[in-house]
Amino acid sequence: MSLLDIRNVRHAYRTKAGPLPVLHGLDLSVPEGEFCAVVGPSGCGKSTLTRLVAGLMRPDEGEVWLHGSKVTSPRKTVGMAFQNPVLLEWRTILDNVILPLEIVAGSMPRRERVARAEELLAMVGLEGFEGKRPSELSGGMRQRASLCRAIVHKPDVLIMDEPFGALDAFTREDLWQTMRSLRAAEPFTALLITHDLRESVFLGDQVVVLSGRPARTQHVMRVDLPADRTLDVLYTPEVGDMLHTLRDEIKIAQGRVVEDA
Ligand SMILES: Nc1ncnc2c1ncn2[C@@H]1O[C@H](COP(=O)(O)OP(=O)(O)O)[C@@H](O)[C@H]1O
Ligand SMILES: [Mg+2]
Repeated sequence: MSLLDIRNVRHAYRTKAGPLPVLHGLDLSVPEGEFCAVVGPSGCGKSTLTRLVAGLMRPDEGEVWLHGSKVTSPRKTVGMAFQNPVLLEWRTILDNVILPLEIVAGSMPRRERVARAEELLAMVGLEGFEGKRPSELSGGMRQRASLCRAIVHKPDVLIMDEPFGALDAFTREDLWQTMRSLRAAEPFTALLITHDLRESVFLGDQVVVLSGRPARTQHVMRVDLPADRTLDVLYTPEVGDMLHTLRDEIKIAQGRVVEDA
């Protein structure tokens, strides 16, 4: 069994207009320490998938397994990052990063919490900004801090829903490299929702393409590139081929006739 296993998950939202089938046969498996990128058409159910993995919702059918147990209620042992960094303005950057430790590691002395947060902030290039408030930082820096907060408690899985979507292209590429060096320093398992195919290949060990709504797993691509890859890898013919394949899969996903559920 993998660290994260999603088996034949089906889910429909109950709306005034009747049930809205969103997921319809979703399978996904992420071994411990791997990074799984998920792409798919807008509105196909990607954010719904993150809520199911975090235990914030239960699927109508199928199962979500995390670290050997079935997910049936909200999990404290996941880390989450979103497009909006959602930092608390009345707390310093350091105290924002410490927050999950206050929740899951209540007995850890403050001195240790601070040391852990400082270590992560240094890894992402935020040394010297620990005492600042979120509004004193750029968007890219806020997102770096939010990534530190998401992994500070060493979660079973880091779930990210388009975390770099609001950043400009150069800042985004910087963050991709930060993400890879964080992983090299401190391995974690990750599920990344993105609409950027280059991002999915650069960060992923596998890329899962979801079909249009109701989403099922349409295509799984292994990304066998060196672990110490740099942005240059994106300009190789090998990655060019991968991006073409993903592009074609997305076109199929967008054009898929939505069947009955
Ligand atoms: N709480 C909800 N109630 C009803 N419909 C919802 C709810 N959340 C999302 N949806 C609908 O479900 C579909 C999938 O949503 P979502 O998972 O956010 O897609 P994605 O993240 O891939 O864009 C969309 O059509 C959205 O409008
Ligand atoms: Mg979404």
